[in-house]
Amino acid sequence: MRLERNLGMDLVRCTEAAAMRSARLMGRGDKDAGDQAAVDAFRLVLDSVPMDGIIVIGEGEKDEAPMLYIGERVGTGEQPAVDVAVDPVEGTTLLAEGMPGAIAVVAIAERGSLYHWSGVAYMDKLAVGPRARGAIDIDRPVAENIQRVAQALDKPVEEVTVVVLDRPRHRDLIRQIRQTGARIKSILHGDVSAGVMTAIEHPPADMLMGIGGAPEAVITACALTCLGGELQCRLWPRNEDEWQLVRERQIDVSRILRTEDLVRSNSVVFAATGITSSEFLKGVEFVSGGATTHSVVMRSSSGTVRYIESRHRWDKLMQISDVRYDTRRD
Ligand code: FBP
Repeated sequence: MRLERNLGMDLVRCTEAAAMRSARLMGRGDKDAGDQAAVDAFRLVLDSVPMDGIIVIGEGEKDEAPMLYIGERVGTGEQPAVDVAVDPVEGTTLLAEGMPGAIAVVAIAERGSLYHWSGVAYMDKLAVGPRARGAIDIDRPVAENIQRVAQALDKPVEEVTVVVLDRPRHRDLIRQIRQTGARIKSILHGDVSAGVMTAIEHPPADMLMGIGGAPEAVITACALTCLGGELQCRLWPRNEDEWQLVRERQIDVSRILRTEDLVRSNSVVFAATGITSSEFLKGVEFVSGGATTHSVVMRSSSGTVRYIESRHRWDKLMQISDVRYDTRRD
């Protein structure tokens, strides 16, 4: 089944609402408040999206998240039946500290096609854009992957840029990358944007490497399915509790999870709106009487990638408490 209707425009209203609502809390040092604001706005607008959605990647299990929890039904209930992966604020610390790169993001794919979260919080990831697709192998040494990508991109290794989350666990990875002579772009948070950026036009980075969130990997895979990039991952249990879970559920942590294992469909829609500005998307700009948002919407079946700049006028939007939401559908 293909998602014949372009639900992208409906979905981008959700990410726009989440971004506008949470951007007001930029730099306030309160991760939870920023996230909650985005969740509230997202959830409200999501109900007007004409789909029968089930959240498979969301705010957590039902007992820990009252909204956008895994298993929650969302949308109007009409066809198509879809899986939903959502992160109302990807980069909660970036938002709380007023740093670049927080986005609101959502992806949908036909029902049953998205990888369900296993309970293991992290994955080791290797992502590239379309030109280097087929050149990577997460089982091969770091240096070999960088060399293969350089070859695929027809440039010297010294001009390849690798994005890595700035974490102590990546000390050895960073050492290995430096040994090759490749460039490193360190990020504090936000490896969804980093992964997606390898596949956009004029990519600010060529590869994403290292360990980050498992739910984020599924969202990244949705975008890379639309853009023709590639993601390879492997679950990375972080402590004894997770190893225990792995044993109980007999999860094969040696298995390589490829883009097509995380998204078993070529019918995917992805939408994201910038909350704080970055090389990927500009953040929310508040102007007198409204705001401007910057978003991207992609659809795998048509291959379209739309960048949308929207001007929102508070007097034209529906007001709920102190926020206005555009829940109309054209
Ligand atoms: P949050 O938005 O949940 O704060 O996640 C941000 C993030 O940086 C992700 O982009 C990344 O995948 C993950 O956290 C890395 O986890 P950790 O900060 O624990 O290393």
